[in-house]
Amino acid sequence: MTDPAAAPGSAQQKIDTSVPHSARIWNYWLGGKDNYPVDEEAGDAYTAVFPGIVTIARSSRAFLRRNITYLAGEVGIRQFLDIGTGLPTADNTHQVAQRIAPESRIVYVDNDPMVLAHARALLYSTPEGATAYVDADILAPDRILEVAAETLDLKRPTALILSNILGHIADYDRARSIVIRLMDALPSGSYLSVNDGSRGIDPVFEQAQDAYNESGAVPYNLRTIDQIAAYFEGLELVEPGVVSVPLWRPDGDTPAPEPIGEHGGLARKP
Ligand SMILES: C[S@@+](CC[C@H](N)C(=O)[O-])C[C@H]1O[C@@H](n2cnc3c(N)ncnc32)[C@H](O)[C@@H]1O
Repeated sequence: MTDPAAAPGSAQQKIDTSVPHSARIWNYWLGGKDNYPVDEEAGDAYTAVFPGIVTIARSSRAFLRRNITYLAGEVGIRQFLDIGTGLPTADNTHQVAQRIAPESRIVYVDNDPMVLAHARALLYSTPEGATAYVDADILAPDRILEVAAETLDLKRPTALILSNILGHIADYDRARSIVIRLMDALPSGSYLSVNDGSRGIDPVFEQAQDAYNESGAVPYNLRTIDQIAAYFEGLELVEPGVVSVPLWRPDGDTPAPEPIGEHGGLARKP
């Protein structure tokens, strides 16, 4: 089912409101309003089994904010490629980066028509910087690089942000090869930021995720901590390495400073 009132062929018209979508359920857990009853239902079914998912969603946004703050503030990165952006929320990548360095340039990539329909909110750049939105699939990294190069100078250090997207790639080896392909295209001094739902911490989380994956929603594959750490092979991990996200350089605003089933890290390309 799509919105019959929407213009034919528009992003709005392509939005399927009969199947729960990752970006919209995530938005629901983050406290946003850009979701449909089908997403609320799937989100509530999940929290009935595992209420901790709300903490996971919020902690991973906080991890992203601290990563971008570190990159823009301490490292001086001015270009960001954020794939699997999600629906606009508080502290999107460009807002955090441009607060510190207004000249920052950001390219967002997502393949969900709902995110495309809301992309305008992602495009409020400072006049000194730039933001762009690309409707593309992470399974086509070459196309992403080609379009990103229209906004970013990919010969200059760039941070690749992969926040809660790699689990959408069913085959782990394929996910790794896509990360390698993307990082290969970036110069020395670039950074990789990954965070993803993890196995081995909380069996109730794994049970809820298995049920969700069988519900008809686009599945999300939890990965072991070793699998998440392996995305950073060949790169120099920033301290404290790959950890549960609330433990990554916590600040005053970090919720739940204890291990949860969401691991991530940040690393520099030598
Ligand atoms: C769980 S949300 C994460 C949003 C945001 N990065 C965050 O961490 O808060 C996953 C996002 O990945 C997007 N996504 C899923 N599969 C994708 C694909 N194959 N290519 C591009 N984006 C994809 C979804 O549309 C959704 O916006």
